[in-house]
Amino acid sequence: MSKTRTVYACQACGFQSPRWLGRCPDCQSWNSLVEEVLQPNTSANARRGGVPASQPQWLRTVAPAAEERKQSGISELDRVLGGGLVPGSVILLGGDPGIGKSTLVLQALAAWSGERPGLYVSGEESPQQVKMRAARLGLAEAAILVLAETNTEAVLSQIEQVEPGVVAIDSIQTIWSDQIPSAPGSVGQVRESAARFVELGKRKHVPVLLVGHVTKEGAIAGPRVLEHMVDTVLYFEGDRGHPFRILRAVKNRFGSTNEIGVFEMKDSGLHPVGNPSALFLAERPAAAAGSAVVACMEGTRPLLVEIQALVSPTSFSNPRRATVGMDPNRVSLLLAVLEKKMGLHLLGQDVFVNVAGGVRVDEPAADLAVIAAVGSSFLDQPIDASLLLVGEVGLAGEVRGVHQVSQRIQEGMQLGFRRFVVPASNRPQLTLPDGVECTGVQNLAELWDILFTPCATGGRQKTKPELAG
Ligand code: TYD
Ligand code: MG
Repeated sequence: MSKTRTVYACQACGFQSPRWLGRCPDCQSWNSLVEEVLQPNTSANARRGGVPASQPQWLRTVAPAAEERKQSGISELDRVLGGGLVPGSVILLGGDPGIGKSTLVLQALAAWSGERPGLYVSGEESPQQVKMRAARLGLAEAAILVLAETNTEAVLSQIEQVEPGVVAIDSIQTIWSDQIPSAPGSVGQVRESAARFVELGKRKHVPVLLVGHVTKEGAIAGPRVLEHMVDTVLYFEGDRGHPFRILRAVKNRFGSTNEIGVFEMKDSGLHPVGNPSALFLAERPAAAAGSAVVACMEGTRPLLVEIQALVSPTSFSNPRRATVGMDPNRVSLLLAVLEKKMGLHLLGQDVFVNVAGGVRVDEPAADLAVIAAVGSSFLDQPIDASLLLVGEVGLAGEVRGVHQVSQRIQEGMQLGFRRFVVPASNRPQLTLPDGVECTGVQNLAELWDILFTPCATGGRQKTKPELAG
């Protein structure tokens, strides 16, 4: 005989404890445990009874699934999904409140609606509000059914009746089920409701989009515990102060991960950006010290971004180091390498590093550009505007090879870059047209010789700049 049980579940990571704790021992977040009453999952238990167990079959005899994908025509979305929407797949779309999730979902739903309508389940907004947004997006006439409902069972029965071509639940945190006594938005509710939608999506072969909000702390409240249940996890990122939004696949059972889609938020909704590099570099200051351009790989696509650094004498005993769009630990490490290997006296300087355009760069291949931008600001010597840098920097000041160098260089050439600095180990793989100069560097000293004219404040003394060929 099973009976109900009370547990305390962490809102951030889903950890469960039989008693209340001030701090989650799993994800270390404070005050995140809330009471939940667990009930025996009778429906799941009943499903077991009487159903014959699956039989193993030879892998070679398994018929491959037919590859049918529904393209939305929103190029950046299709790219991130791995070529379109797979029937019966369940997608989790996470992101900060206000970043544009509902906008993206509405646009996608309108594009995917065909003979069968798209069903937009709104737990946060009234049909009138949804209509206002649709009008703004020019989608007022789209074949979309709007359902303002938060009860899981009611939504499921509507899906059974309406038989939509695609379903969007906005958002999963507002949905609650009769079967669970805890409050909407709690881990138990979110998990149970999502499991029901996943089950229905698979059974009826309907794609389901679940929208989930990320909390301020960065953990997806609730939805993080859903990541393993869904086929695809997409995060919508961006800086609210910038119009660019990046859609990133962090898990995809039907395509490659780490693929990104770039959008621009305009008055008329989200517009795919076909050439993000050009956009990210559009406002680059000419001949300003402290700016360097790197080609990062985002999935299969190279992306050119500008790294900016500002180095100025500090008025504190502990100099400030602040970064936007980069890992601060990585920047600290690079500053230490600069101090030790290049003799740059950064201890008396505040250092700020920013990735322009509100983008995030997490690739070590950007190290060389960070070093170059910091050096440029420190020496007050601008870097040639047509020069692009790629390379990882090690603690000994050595420049390490990176992958997919030729794609990065190709993207740079398309945007008018004519001088490239790459790791020496990558240089032999590259064949370049006339008029393009590409230098392989082994260490920071060689980089310095290419970028800067000798300068007394730089620590190293050289009489003549040397341009390596
Ligand atoms: P929304 O999709 O509601 O965000 P989320 O569902 O992630 O909370 O988008 C909210 C923001 O987007 C809001 O600040 C207004 C802005 N926006 C535009 O700039 N243009 C548009 O066409 C739309 C629909 C929204
Ligand atoms: Mg919303």
